[in-house]
Amino acid sequence: KTLDDMGDINGKAVLVREDLNVPMQDGSVSDDTRLRAAMPTILELADRGAKVLILAHFGRPKGQKNPEFSLSKITRPLSQVLGREVQFIPDCAGQAAVDGIAVMRPGDIAILENTRFHPGEEKNDPALADAMAAIGDLYVNDAFSAAHRAHASTEGLAHKLPAFAGRSMEKELNALQAALGQPVKPVAAVVGGAKVSTKLDVLNNLVAKVDHLIIGGGMANTFLHARGVDVGKSLCEKDLADTAEAIFEAADRAGCTIHLPYDVAVAKEFAANPPSLRICNVHEVAADEMILDVGPAAVEALGDVLKNCRTLVWNGPLGAFEIAPFDKATVALARTAAALTREGQLISVAGGGDTVAALNHAGVAGDFTFVSTAGGAFLEWMEGKELPGVKALMA
Ligand code: 3PG
Repeated sequence: KTLDDMGDINGKAVLVREDLNVPMQDGSVSDDTRLRAAMPTILELADRGAKVLILAHFGRPKGQKNPEFSLSKITRPLSQVLGREVQFIPDCAGQAAVDGIAVMRPGDIAILENTRFHPGEEKNDPALADAMAAIGDLYVNDAFSAAHRAHASTEGLAHKLPAFAGRSMEKELNALQAALGQPVKPVAAVVGGAKVSTKLDVLNNLVAKVDHLIIGGGMANTFLHARGVDVGKSLCEKDLADTAEAIFEAADRAGCTIHLPYDVAVAKEFAANPPSLRICNVHEVAADEMILDVGPAAVEALGDVLKNCRTLVWNGPLGAFEIAPFDKATVALARTAAALTREGQLISVAGGGDTVAALNHAGVAGDFTFVSTAGGAFLEWMEGKELPGVKALMA
């Protein structure tokens, strides 16, 4: 059910779970993507005359009331993004919440204090869900990026009040459905990042679902090592060679082609523009060199793979993209994907912490069909897991 199914909400108190967990630097919000993602739902509810009560967490205060993690810091930034006044209510349940809401008029917007100040939040304590339900008439979950947490405000509350998906949640779910649910085939996935160990479930799920799996970043080294390539002093989880081999076999059985780099950028030190930088075949990496990026020939071949696909899911950079020139492969392949998307040939969906930073760095995040606001939740979705916050909405 979405906001379209809510009926008349004029004068109703609507509890809206948003993800306001935004990065801060020197007291200001350094990336307001999540605030902008929350905007459509908040404005629509306010314009339909609801009293909009925003529930959210901020950081990990571990059940303690710690002013460092107060959502009062987000009131002004959210107000600026919305172009509306936003009030702050110093608790998300109990008398302070009741008193704050009592003076609100239809169409008013308020942020309620950090749900994680209550120990019951992360425990998904029904008593806290009841206390929050007591201050509202309806519940909207708009926080896909927190939906992998079975907490009182993301899961429990959905069972206590009539529950609806917000506009941002709806957009995320539709995009993810188009990417891996019932995708237009052939489907490619790009999975990068430092370690195989953190993405084993992602890889195992993807080999069964996609036609082409492109593996980059440090994790490609483990796969190269498993295939007998000497990766020098590259980051490599040698103890996972058998696991990598099992993934190759699962891919073979499922008809999924795994693509690994066959040329690479290597250097003797991990630094920007190192004098020892060179491009070589993966079989020519010296004992004192490390692989830091996919090479230009392999990137071109990967671009050709994308040209033959209709859907792309992307998580993780192909190289050490934060250090020049090891951003080259990620930038080049991201630009190819963006161009194919602009031409209407590719549905491209990306997500996960570093990924969005990498696409922004390549200047193409806006050209992808959809870029998720989620970090951990996007990964769990790529692992094929059911997210508790989403499941509760469907019940
Ligand atoms: C996130 O930042 O990915 C979400 O807000 C979830 O935060 P958490 O990892 O602290 O639960």
